[in-house]
Amino acid sequence: MKTKTYKPSVAFLRQATIKNPEAEYKKAAKDYLKYWESAAKELEWGKPWKKVLDDSKPPFYKWFVGAKGNIVQNAIDRHLANGNKNKVALLWESDSGQHKKFTYAELDQAVCRLANGLKSLGIKKGDRVAIYLQNIPEAAIAMLACAKIGAIHGIVYAGFAAHSLREWIELTEPKLLITQDAGIRRGKRYSMKPTADEAVKGLKCVKNMLVVHHSKIDVPMVKGRDISYHDLVDKMSPKCETEMLDSEDPLFILYNSGTASKPKGMVHVHGGYQVQIHRTFNWVFDVKPNDVFWSTADPGWITGHSYTIYAPLMAGVTTLLFEGVPNYPKPDRIWEIIDKYKVNILYTAPTLLRMLMGEGDQWVKKHSLKSLRILGSVGEPINPAAWKWYYTVVGKKRCPIIDTWWQTETGAHMIVPLPTLPLKPGSATKPFPGIFAEVVDHDGKKVKDGERGLLVITKPWPAMARTFYKAEKYFKETYFKRFPGKYLTLDVAMRDKDGYFWALGRADDVLKIAGHRIGTAEIEAAIAHHPAVMEVAVIGKPHKIKGESAKAFVVLKKGFVGSDEISDGIKKKIRSEMGPVAVTDEIEYINKLPKNRNGKVMRRVLKAKELGQKLEDVVVFD
Ligand code: PRX
Repeated sequence: MKTKTYKPSVAFLRQATIKNPEAEYKKAAKDYLKYWESAAKELEWGKPWKKVLDDSKPPFYKWFVGAKGNIVQNAIDRHLANGNKNKVALLWESDSGQHKKFTYAELDQAVCRLANGLKSLGIKKGDRVAIYLQNIPEAAIAMLACAKIGAIHGIVYAGFAAHSLREWIELTEPKLLITQDAGIRRGKRYSMKPTADEAVKGLKCVKNMLVVHHSKIDVPMVKGRDISYHDLVDKMSPKCETEMLDSEDPLFILYNSGTASKPKGMVHVHGGYQVQIHRTFNWVFDVKPNDVFWSTADPGWITGHSYTIYAPLMAGVTTLLFEGVPNYPKPDRIWEIIDKYKVNILYTAPTLLRMLMGEGDQWVKKHSLKSLRILGSVGEPINPAAWKWYYTVVGKKRCPIIDTWWQTETGAHMIVPLPTLPLKPGSATKPFPGIFAEVVDHDGKKVKDGERGLLVITKPWPAMARTFYKAEKYFKETYFKRFPGKYLTLDVAMRDKDGYFWALGRADDVLKIAGHRIGTAEIEAAIAHHPAVMEVAVIGKPHKIKGESAKAFVVLKKGFVGSDEISDGIKKKIRSEMGPVAVTDEIEYINKLPKNRNGKVMRRVLKAKELGQKLEDVVVFD
């Protein structure tokens, strides 16, 4: 395959911090523990580590063993003393175009007040707190307040329905749920508190619900359980000590769609996680002290955790949160915001780029976009056409495109360019310094360059998820059983002769719809709740804008015949159990599902037929 490479401009190279990426790869490979240790030394800790990595019980690795600290120490506390106190930490633009600003000092006070509020509700270190909030400042404040006192936050994406939120609460048993009255998008309100009420109905674990009256609408408050956010925090002290935790103490549990029909919780910890998000953020985005960084990712996803909230704050720059959608009220909202706040780094998803590309270049050209220096992409493969559009029309050929390959499991960037590396559209380039990846066949043998295979990570890395909450065995089996000592990413990839990696999609039964990771099993479980459905299999199909869309093959119970009415009922079921992202575009009624001898549904047979491909060409993991 012949691909044009894009070299950094002279002007970009001149101002870049890392001018010689190859030297960094070599240095890190020579002694990778020393490399990560030097990254850890850039941060503040309560007590230093005794050992960088404990790999005595694989795959349950520990990093910075014996160290004490807290991510909040680096995300807020140190900025109060290093000259950043009055710098804007958090900039928030509402759906309707208003904004709010928090300097680091103001953010500290807001976080301390809530941290004290949490303590007053009896929340202690190790307790779980569920967060069901839209992209509003309180979402960041809630995350940081939990972290500050050692409570573990678990965010559920605001677009999820009551059933998904309930499953999450049953799994993580939080004492507290933080939510808001209603969310606002495209000028319309959608209620969230009633969804939260429905989700917790009859569950004993949730003792309190903290409600942010964001949209100022009347919502029923349950006496003795529900508290208004401001009633709680306004009377609290703006000072609160940051708890010194073990580096392996959990920071958050994140909802993770996988092949299991019920979602799992990925556990990430304070120590190694902060080291890797900090190092990757600074190097990959070539961050400068006065940068305004905008990641369009919702806090409900891993990108929102790592690169919308924590890493920019740790770097002491300004992070922008946006409540709305990028093409409302007009298709140039995103470009308008970039000029309005002089955004230097934009980090977004290919699905959004494809949508904006479809709106036409004239919307981009109305704005100067002069402030942009770097453009990032995340969540799914970026097709070369979208890459080139991003590079040429948005970045005016000035800004490197940083295609970041990583996962909820990896916590931080893994395969990603250093911005002065020559770029190839569609490739996330090379493993970050200190990260080691290979493409292997089904027996774990390295395939030749240019051949497709399974992507594995061959050495542990600091930000790796430590386990699935309450499902250690499943964690080990999913990622480490197939090739002991190596982490199976469950992605198909190819490495070219220059050592560049091309991530080509998932090898398991997980879809990427508009950048959202959704297990086929989860959609199937929702569909199977429809009274007419006997059996169902869901596959992913390429989609021009969303990257992938779901198609369901449904076998109906005796006496039922496929109809628009049943299809509408099925779609309604998915919407009410999982929210709108998962709704299948197509439903086909068939008489029986193809199965192997063990009775396992062979989705790849359905997929090959649907896409008119040969069975051998559909790479799936089985
Ligand atoms: O298939 C890969 C795809 O997204 C999966 C991880 O999804 P999630 O855990 O939701 O995390 C998304 C945000 C990091 C991967 O297994 N993926 C993510 N980034 C890329 C990608 N595929 C190709 N190129 C990328 N840059």
